[in-house]
Amino acid sequence: MAATSTSRWSLSGTTALVTGGTRGIGQATVEELAEMGATVHTCSRNEEELNQRLKEWESKGFKVSGSVCDVSSREQRVQLMEKASSVFDGKLNILINNVGINVWKPTVDYTAEEYSTLMATNLESSYHLCQLAHPLLKASGNGSIVFISSIAGVVHMFSGSIYGATKGAMNQLTKNLACEWAKDNIRVNCVAPGFTKTSNVKPLLEDKDLVDRVVSRTPLKRFGEAQEVSSLVTFLCLPAASYITGQIVCVDGGMTVNVFPLEYRT
Ligand SMILES: NC(=O)c1ccc[n+]([C@@H]2O[C@H](COP(=O)([O-])OP(=O)(O)OC[C@H]3O[C@@H](n4cnc5c(N)ncnc54)[C@H](OP(=O)(O)O)[C@@H]3O)[C@@H](O)[C@H]2O)c1
Repeated sequence: MAATSTSRWSLSGTTALVTGGTRGIGQATVEELAEMGATVHTCSRNEEELNQRLKEWESKGFKVSGSVCDVSSREQRVQLMEKASSVFDGKLNILINNVGINVWKPTVDYTAEEYSTLMATNLESSYHLCQLAHPLLKASGNGSIVFISSIAGVVHMFSGSIYGATKGAMNQLTKNLACEWAKDNIRVNCVAPGFTKTSNVKPLLEDKDLVDRVVSRTPLKRFGEAQEVSSLVTFLCLPAASYITGQIVCVDGGMTVNVFPLEYRT
């Protein structure tokens, strides 16, 4: 049966798990999915901030629940998925792998511990959460995974080689899972943000010289907002995006296509 034009642009009746939903891109995504009608479960490590957000969302009429979870812990990831399964009755339509951290250093200065922490938080967590979510996504009959990677996984950035490697691996994983799980009616896509104003980049925003350099290399001449990323994440989960899978889309004001800018001379 063909979907009506309204249902193609609605997430009413769907369920979503968003990691790291209390700030930045994760918060914007929780709110946009909920606005489109999804029931959302999210997580973060800071219980006080999580409870504060849950209160705010309740007052806005959003259907959002939450768990304290450090996604770098295998045991806590299992508990998170058990919780999501019990809240959503074993059926999950949407998984957003949003959590990501960074430590910026020259490659030769990274410690073994920093390598393990970045890999566990950014890559292993996403991989394992996909494994854990697979039966729930399949059971929903209509699943969608969105990874939040970075333009640092597409091109070289000053943001450090480990971060870039985790994000590049997420981009490849998007393609692998899109092909492997298409038979289960699970679509898999990836959103790669550029410089976006969140708590994550707050220290960077205080460095005027760096901000000027970022802006000068960005065709749209500014940083992005978290809502400019969450709008694409949400679109990819809609029935309207039902033929899109295995794609990596940069949301970066044009930065990654701006390789060799040259002003026209008149
Ligand atoms: N902002 C950018 O310019 C930018 C650019 C490219 C890619 N990205 C990617 O976008 C994603 C979101 O970044 P953001 O800028 O929105 O970050 P953010 O503002 O720092 O927010 C991060 C969110 O994740 C949670 N979180 C962090 N570590 C966690 C962990 N181990 N377990 C559970 N929750 C955790 C945080 O809450 P707690 O701290 O309380 O746990 C918070 O809710 C990341 O994957 C990042 O790499 C961001």
